[in-house]
Amino acid sequence: MDNKRIYLDHAATTPVAKEVFEAMLPYFSERYGNASSLHSFGQEAKDALEESRERIAKRMNSGAEEIIFTSGGTESNNLALKGIAARKGKGHIITSKIEHASILAPCRELVNQGFSVTYLDVDEYGLVDPGDVAGALREDTILVSIGHANNEVGTVQDIGEIGKITREKGVLLHTDACQSFTKEELDVKKQCLDLVSINAHKIHGPKGVGALYIREGVKIIPQSQGGEHEKNIRAGTENVAGIVGFAKAAEITGGKQVGYMKGLRDQLIKGVLSGVEGVRLNGHPEKRLCNNANYGFEGIEGEALLLRLDMRGVACSTGSACSSRSLMPSHVLLALGLKPEECHGSLRATLGMENTKEEIDYAIQAIKEEVSNLRGISPFWKRKQ
Ligand SMILES: Cc1ncc(COP(=O)(O)O)c(C=O)c1O
Repeated sequence: MDNKRIYLDHAATTPVAKEVFEAMLPYFSERYGNASSLHSFGQEAKDALEESRERIAKRMNSGAEEIIFTSGGTESNNLALKGIAARKGKGHIITSKIEHASILAPCRELVNQGFSVTYLDVDEYGLVDPGDVAGALREDTILVSIGHANNEVGTVQDIGEIGKITREKGVLLHTDACQSFTKEELDVKKQCLDLVSINAHKIHGPKGVGALYIREGVKIIPQSQGGEHEKNIRAGTENVAGIVGFAKAAEITGGKQVGYMKGLRDQLIKGVLSGVEGVRLNGHPEKRLCNNANYGFEGIEGEALLLRLDMRGVACSTGSACSSRSLMPSHVLLALGLKPEECHGSLRATLGMENTKEEIDYAIQAIKEEVSNLRGISPFWKRKQ
């Protein structure tokens, strides 16, 4: 296993699958037309675009015409929140304290513009209580945005229950499904969803491609202008090769892989929890993404552990990719009720379909040894002993 590199950071991004890469290739070199052009090159691109739209729609039981392609999850989230807010002009938005930065930052911006935002608490496992959503609804509530699965601790929300409440009250529900797409059930009709953000690079597709599902009849103000692309909602030449790759990725991920990753996840969780003292699992014990393990180690810095594991070829994370260069405690872990010093001892390992049992065994052993090495030089741990 020496010289081996084991990638356990799939919540940050995933390798592009071979089938995805091969499906994309012709759209760089032979079928490179602009999908808006009227000639045969353009038609070829347009056909690929529309076929991809249908394939993506199928994965969430939506109509193809309800899918708008974007540059990724960040843009989809911004478009959903700002597009609905601009349409309504004023009002109240409900979200949670554990959302991704691409939800929280637009919310802050909307507050500056005069909108009001309620940030719901979560329980110690990261769950939003659907009853709290019902309790926070107001006459002027224009949108509820709750992420389907959390990118740090992997907690999966009961989005269908929240959907029943918002649909009954006639309030729009948006969910950020970037982490859950193809891993958890996503059915826009059954779960009463009005807007859904997804992206390609979390499911073995390319970076820089995403989509926003907008339920038919929901009106949204475009956030980029200058072309009639994507039903006049998102101006800009479509990334045809990326979109073809996204559709392929959506087709080849999920299914049996979910059970496989769950097996690896449980092996990893059990191996570390039973082999190391002073460690806890962050997030929900059951309502958890099939590929997420997030630990809190007493007496050590997660960042130091991450670097030592990296030297042994094991790539993990201490928080979300976007905040992992920041020394601020994770807003997600704080919302779960952890103390700032507890947040600093966190380590996230997120698995992919290409990981093996042997890699997980190696990672467990490396984590055990490096936690022990770091505790050997940790004054906090010594004091505790
Ligand atoms: C839950 C969640 N939402 C949104 C994003 C942003 O997506 P993208 O990297 O495609 O902009 C990410 C990725 O980090 C994510 O995990």
